[in-house]
Amino acid sequence: MSDAFPASTAALIDGKAFAAGLRAKVAIHAAAFEAQSGRKAGLAVVLVGEDPASQVYVRSKGKATVECGMASFEHRLPADTTQADLIALVDQLNADGAVDGILVQLPLPGHLDEQAVVERISPTKDVDGLTPVSTGRLALGLPGLVPCTPLGSLMLLKDRLGSLSGLNAVVIGRSILVGKPMAQLLLGESCTVTIAHSRTKDLPQVVRRADIVVAAVGRPEMVKADWIKPGATVIDVGINRLPPTETSPKGKLVGDVDFAGVREVAGAITPVPGGVGPMTIAVLLRNALVAAYRNAGLDAPSEL
Ligand code: GUN
Repeated sequence: MSDAFPASTAALIDGKAFAAGLRAKVAIHAAAFEAQSGRKAGLAVVLVGEDPASQVYVRSKGKATVECGMASFEHRLPADTTQADLIALVDQLNADGAVDGILVQLPLPGHLDEQAVVERISPTKDVDGLTPVSTGRLALGLPGLVPCTPLGSLMLLKDRLGSLSGLNAVVIGRSILVGKPMAQLLLGESCTVTIAHSRTKDLPQVVRRADIVVAAVGRPEMVKADWIKPGATVIDVGINRLPPTETSPKGKLVGDVDFAGVREVAGAITPVPGGVGPMTIAVLLRNALVAAYRNAGLDAPSEL
């Protein structure tokens, strides 16, 4: 670090608190929706198989849905479910007037065609924002449902920085669930966007240009302090568990960013845990309620 930028400690971006605020807003509007439409907004979550991490996610999604006053429909199918049976369930949920949002937990067991299942979800119920229609609408700048983690990350950025117009943003990772939609959202805010990935040449040099860094690669503590422009805002989407040690017998949870080092250079940073993670479920609830309003032919409240 040069003398012009003496070491300082970055502000922490409190995703947990922001997510709690968003969930409270969803709860208020979910009650208003029920009063207006005569039914609860409903979210269906489909889990195939017994992946332990997915089971935890699905349980917490169902609990959060009920806590904010919406109806939760959980469908747990055995690991050997056929493609035809899974598609039949999606069709049934598409046709169900009590269901406003459908989330099929990914990854699916290897014998299932994930893309075909996702494409079957009605775009009006696509709370994950993963169907080709949702993806296309995002690229075109049209209203639609947007993937939860990138939308949550954008909410944190706008809360911290206000206008993002003209800022250099570097997204590290090009996944369908995070990297690509994140880049589209930042472009929509008039950032100059670079998508970096595993083949990018001189990644540290690319990241050093960024006013905004979004790390979504799934490599523990990859982004180092000397990659970061002093004062930059750093959003860490990674959730990685390190091997167990004596002091952390379950293995420490870390992001894709070397938090201890980067916080001495960045202007603001999301911690792991407690940063982007809590935003994902809060935005899922928000997306389900927005879908409910639109499916009922009503305008969704602008503060959502
Ligand atoms: N698995 C991990 N994250 C997600 C997500 O956001 N949506 C779905 N459907 N599956 C996931």
